[in-house]
Amino acid sequence: MDSRKIQELLRKANEALKNSYAPYSGYRVGAALLTKTGKVYTGSNIENASYGLTICAERVALFNAVNEGEREFIAIAIVSDDPSTPPFPCGACRQVLAEFSPSMEIIVKKGDEVIIKNLKELLPYSFDFK
Ligand code: THU
Repeated sequence: MDSRKIQELLRKANEALKNSYAPYSGYRVGAALLTKTGKVYTGSNIENASYGLTICAERVALFNAVNEGEREFIAIAIVSDDPSTPPFPCGACRQVLAEFSPSMEIIVKKGDEVIIKNLKELLPYSFDFK
C-alpha cells in the first residue's frame, strides 16, 4: 500500500476515535477500513454497563461496511489512546475480519512507527467450514 493511503487511513481512524464511547475502560479505539472499491468506513469502540455487550471499533467499522453492501477489504488502520501499545485487533475481531478478507492488511502504530501485518499472520488457521 502506498504511504499516503496508509496515512489517510490512520488519520480517519483518529477522527473515529473521537466518537468512542468508553466510560468504563477509558480506552478509546478508532478504526478505518478500506474496501476493495476504494471507500473508507470507520468505527469506534462502544461500551456498555453490562461490560460483555461492548463492541470493538474494528467490528463497528466492518459491520458498517457490510451493511452498505461491501464484502471485500484491503486494509484496516486501528488507533488507540495509548501510543506505546500497538492496538492489534482482539481474537474475536480477527475472526470476524477473516470471514470477509483473510488476507487483508492490519495497520497499527507503536509510537511513531507504523506496523503492518497481514491478517493471515495474526490469525493462521481461522475457523471456516465453507
Ligand atoms: N477494544 C477495541 O475496540 N478493539 C480491540 O481489538 C480490543 C479492545 C476496546 C473494547 C473496550 O471498549 C476497550 O477496548 C478495552 O478493552
